[in-house]
Amino acid sequence: MSKSSPATQDGYLRIEHVTKRFMGVTAVENANISIARGEFFSLLGPSGCGKTTLLRMIAGFEFPTEGAIYMDGQDMSAVPANKRPSNMVFQSYAIFPHLNVHDNIAYGLRRLRLSRREVNRRVEEALAMIHLPGLGKRRADQLSGGQRQRIALARALVNRPKVLLLDEPLGALDKKLRESMQLELRELQRSVGITFVFVTHDQEEALSMSDRIAVMFKGKVLQVASPRALYEAPNCREVADFIGSINFFEATVRGQEGGDVILEAAGLGTVRANLPAEHGFISPGARVIAAIRPEKILLLADGNGQPGQSAVGVIGAHAYLGDRDHLQVALSGRKEPVAVAAQQIERALTARFDSGQKVTLGWDKAAMLVLPG
Ligand SMILES: Nc1ncnc2c1ncn2[C@@H]1O[C@H](COP(=O)(O)OP(=O)(O)OP(=O)(O)O)[C@@H](O)[C@H]1O
Ligand SMILES: [Mg+2]
Repeated sequence: MSKSSPATQDGYLRIEHVTKRFMGVTAVENANISIARGEFFSLLGPSGCGKTTLLRMIAGFEFPTEGAIYMDGQDMSAVPANKRPSNMVFQSYAIFPHLNVHDNIAYGLRRLRLSRREVNRRVEEALAMIHLPGLGKRRADQLSGGQRQRIALARALVNRPKVLLLDEPLGALDKKLRESMQLELRELQRSVGITFVFVTHDQEEALSMSDRIAVMFKGKVLQVASPRALYEAPNCREVADFIGSINFFEATVRGQEGGDVILEAAGLGTVRANLPAEHGFISPGARVIAAIRPEKILLLADGNGQPGQSAVGVIGAHAYLGDRDHLQVALSGRKEPVAVAAQQIERALTARFDSGQKVTLGWDKAAMLVLPG
């Protein structure tokens, strides 16, 4: 029998109707999330959307105003942080600069009252896990940023939590190091099989690392889905806008034809799109948003556009970005230019396109998203 993906198993960590109010601020509003055992789950959203607050409630450093959190079927409402099967890695390294690496990691074991030998064994094991074997004697203040962050990770892993909560653990690292740590962290998570709840405001980081992501906005969980589903089928304007870049068009529903929605949008005219999975908001005359990602728009030879899936415009700015070209295309009847990203494969074609030239844009019907207005 094939192994089911973690996301389809029953929730190991369940967040049910959780609201957190501080004086005058609703930091988290009616959050409902179910996370599977062994899943790499991310909370993604802009600054102030409530990610840390939700993570701190899972950890037990904060308690919900309403709702409850369950771990392994057990209600955590009356369980203090140090009695939960979870451990947290903070954004700032939170390691002790005056202690050496060994003692920093062993600090995570202090509650377990283990023998000296067992402590040493586990610390060495953790050091090997984070690829820093033999560094135990080094003082923490003599380490690089990336090494320190690994120590903080090792300290959280050393007492083998069932759930590891990570609050922007890579936020302070430079881009190169951050990218290599992302891969390492993902590998580590797979090999130890611990459930990760990972907070980040970096969409690429969330996409590349997670099994599933919850996108948060102003205290609300807007969508919970796999990276691919979030990108290809966002359920609202905020999610579409936060993950990747996208062009929005104000549109009016004209009707349905087969499985398609027919829309009227300024600049595009009449367009055809697949009926979205959630389509309660679609009825003739309804105001909706049509949206298409820049890389899903193709530059076509003149006259090759299909009705309902193309538009004619004039190229404004054209930027060469190495691995792709960015074009701004003006459409008549619309103020804002449409962003088009042309990949390598189209180069032969794009090289010929220049500012001021007329161009036909075309796209697959499925690439035109329809979102609630
Ligand atoms: N202890 C507190 N008292 C009052 N308001 C708080 C408290 N903690 C957080 N908040 C407010 O709750 C909201 C959510 O904060 P939170 O720290 O969870 O956001 P975040 O998504 O982690 O943001 P960032 O990406 O900047 O870390 C913010 O408006 C914040 O000011
Ligand atoms: Mg935060």
